[in-house]
Amino acid sequence: MTELKRNRSLRVLAVQVLCGGLLAGAAWLPAAHAGDAAAGAAAWVQEHPQPNGAPARSCATCHTDDLTQPGRHAKTGKPIEPMAPSVNPERLSDQAKVEKWLRRNCRWTLGRECTAAEKADFLTYIKSQ
Ligand code: HEC
Repeated sequence: MTELKRNRSLRVLAVQVLCGGLLAGAAWLPAAHAGDAAAGAAAWVQEHPQPNGAPARSCATCHTDDLTQPGRHAKTGKPIEPMAPSVNPERLSDQAKVEKWLRRNCRWTLGRECTAAEKADFLTYIKSQ
């Protein structure tokens, strides 16, 4: 490691140590987060109660908890192709489509957009299927 690089990484480390406590949970932190398939799997089936008394929602509500199987849209009843790339190679092949649907589905399911870490976990889980 060159002297310059070491100085830089030491400085970065110091900043992380100083700010870590304050910024834990800040949205930008998980930007470098490598997805965790187990966390994604757990989040996939986690039920989110709805404020208006509607049935609780999870990703599995439409996509089921078996990603190799087709799902069904909870509102429209329309069939949804399997999410698992192993049986549906088109899945996760179009970044814009993935971003668009994650935004939409997180809002509908969780009532908010997913964090970068949550998205990374979901995508790592889906890819592993
Ligand atoms: C209300 C039904 C519904 C729920 C709940 C839902 N989805 Fe979806 N999802 C869809 C539909 C519809 C599409 C787009 C049609 C398609 O690709 O088959 C889609 C597409 C996607 C895609 C795009 C995949 C690709 O590359 O083609 C991802 C990723 C995704 N959903 C993830 C999630 C995650 C994560 C959750 C939970 C936070 C979730 N979905 C909850 C209905 C839903």
